[in-house]
Amino acid sequence: MKNLIDIKDLSTQEIQELIEVAKDIMQHPQNYVEKCKHKKLATLFFEPSTRTRLSFEAAMMELGGNVIGFSSASSSSTAKGESVSDTIRTIGCYSDIIAMRHPKEGAPLVASIKSTVPIINAGDGGHNHPTQTLTDLLTISCEKQRLNNLTIGLCGDLKFGRTVHSLITAMSRYENIKFILISPEELKIPEYVKKEILEKHQIQYIETTSLEEHMKDLDILYMTRVQKERFFNEEDYVRLKDYYILNNSKLTTAKQDLCIMHPLPRVNEISTEVDDDPRAKYFNQVRYGKYIRMALILKMLEIK
Ligand code: CP
Repeated sequence: MKNLIDIKDLSTQEIQELIEVAKDIMQHPQNYVEKCKHKKLATLFFEPSTRTRLSFEAAMMELGGNVIGFSSASSSSTAKGESVSDTIRTIGCYSDIIAMRHPKEGAPLVASIKSTVPIINAGDGGHNHPTQTLTDLLTISCEKQRLNNLTIGLCGDLKFGRTVHSLITAMSRYENIKFILISPEELKIPEYVKKEILEKHQIQYIETTSLEEHMKDLDILYMTRVQKERFFNEEDYVRLKDYYILNNSKLTTAKQDLCIMHPLPRVNEISTEVDDDPRAKYFNQVRYGKYIRMALILKMLEIK
């Protein structure tokens, strides 16, 4: 695999291997400290990030490699009008692998055509976020000990939430998965996700506006932020941003082994009182993100 643009670039077998390597790294980190010695990762972030960029950088450092890059378009020659293609050809002269985030959907795919080194899509617009999905799969595998037989509630901005689109794509490969799609009418899952993934693979799903209605059935509740940066007007964002706020009272009917996830950043959609509930796994999820990215870097650099 030269590039990771979409979670579909990985087979189910390859995802399983990445999860197993990540778990081995968690148990035996000392075995990996020099695996990427003399290798360089470039993180090119044309859009803000905390977790994705810093977890990639921490991952490469823990593998003994080095990191270069920029954290905003304004601090690169993009601000002078340089194209993504020329930026990528340049960075390929300095690095062995590139993790790239861009507000334009498809930009990492375009970059991968020109690149001489592997490209990892670290999030493109409202489209895809495959390494968050790998993070989510490792989280589910560790916290639920399975990737099949799950009822998964996805709540919030299902229209613009790229992590949701990638997660549905990935989870649709596993046996007996059912989705409860919880969103305001305006932020429903796009038709193409329903037609090309859910209906094509005959995955059961229910669309609802109620967070409480199916709470008792959920094995996983995946909360998402309303994506302010993808709205065309402030008024719509303000009206929808606090549509769902998960708090302790809303969890009264939930299963004792519910796994509450969120790709973060959180704004208001999970009350901080929930953080003390043992079912809240979103900060564990952050930690898993570093280990799965370590496994991914090793795979893409073909290091055993
Ligand atoms: N989950 C996620 O992509 O977080 P950042 O935007 O902070 O990278």
